[in-house]
Amino acid sequence: MPPTSLPTAGFDPVTPTPDPARLPTDAAGSTHLLQLGGLPPAAVRRLLERTRRVHTLMGETASLPLSGPAQAPAGLRGLLKGRVVANLFFEDSTRTRVSFSVAARGLGAKVIDLTSVGSSVSKGESVADTAANVAAMGADALVIRHRASGACHLVARTLAALRPGRHFPAGRRCAVINAGDGRHEHPTQGLLDTYTLAEAHGRLDGFDLSGLTVAIVGDVAASRVARSDIAAMTALGARVVCVGPPSLVPASLGALGCALSNDLDAVLPDADAVNVLRIQFERREPPAGATHTPGPAAVVSLGEYARLYALDADRLRTMKPGAIVMHPGPINRGVEITPEAADSPRSVVLRQVAHGVLVRMAVACECLGVSDF
Ligand code: NCD
Repeated sequence: MPPTSLPTAGFDPVTPTPDPARLPTDAAGSTHLLQLGGLPPAAVRRLLERTRRVHTLMGETASLPLSGPAQAPAGLRGLLKGRVVANLFFEDSTRTRVSFSVAARGLGAKVIDLTSVGSSVSKGESVADTAANVAAMGADALVIRHRASGACHLVARTLAALRPGRHFPAGRRCAVINAGDGRHEHPTQGLLDTYTLAEAHGRLDGFDLSGLTVAIVGDVAASRVARSDIAAMTALGARVVCVGPPSLVPASLGALGCALSNDLDAVLPDADAVNVLRIQFERREPPAGATHTPGPAAVVSLGEYARLYALDADRLRTMKPGAIVMHPGPINRGVEITPEAADSPRSVVLRQVAHGVLVRMAVACECLGVSDF
């Protein structure tokens, strides 16, 4: 640990709490959502059940305006009134950032948006220092996206070490919510993907996914979405098969409890859902300032990759009736998926995005101790 770092205290994101349906809470009483891997199935189910209640209260047609005083319907309105949610996005984002903001604003929270550009991160401040400063100003929750795997754990451990009465007012809590850290996890995306899968296959009662097969296709090795999906979906009984060339789907992924395949055409006819991932080139570059040279290219040729693994109209026809097409976005049309597949009646891509707001409302309430619904 470099001597210039803030102190950190032990915080284990998966140590079961006395109630296995609850997220881990640190010694100061702050509840964090750092990852889905290792959480008891009851904790995953509880977040999905809360999402379902939000969904019912929001109604099928209700939507929140993106600007102005967004108002959720009665039952949800004002649940986070007086609370401050800080979005600390040190990496680019469209869907995740907007939907965390819409969710928190819709529940009445004040939202602070911070990015690397325009904050002191561009002057060399560490993510832990930036986060501690924003927490000291009174944020109740930090929603963090960072290119380094483990950044959210580091922040949670840093906050847990800040002494009440000295660094923080006594009794102050601050939740950390992981909005995507490096290749590690993206837990709210995992929850919204799982919710969308359950909805499409009539599994919203109890979220029992047994008997369903989900194919995750593409750059699984670099994907935090895939790790969260695998954790949540297998915890609830689904079978997950990761599909791609060996460079993107290495054998080591089998340790996550999923099956592996290099043959999309063999897997597709058995899949109840196909979740397509883009090749995440930027997560394969060395970090700025690193002296080592980049590793081998992700794929030999994009054309060859598309021929073997792109979800296109021909492959769509081999899928089961009722099987769905998912994609976390951003979509690279013509590489991992063609417009025919992305926009087909099987596609639930925009439904995933809409569910993102519901999941983030449920997660914000859970982490901030709001239990009114
Ligand atoms: C993903 C992410 O950022 O990890 N996108 C998202 O949050 N919806 C997937 C990706 O970057 O490919």
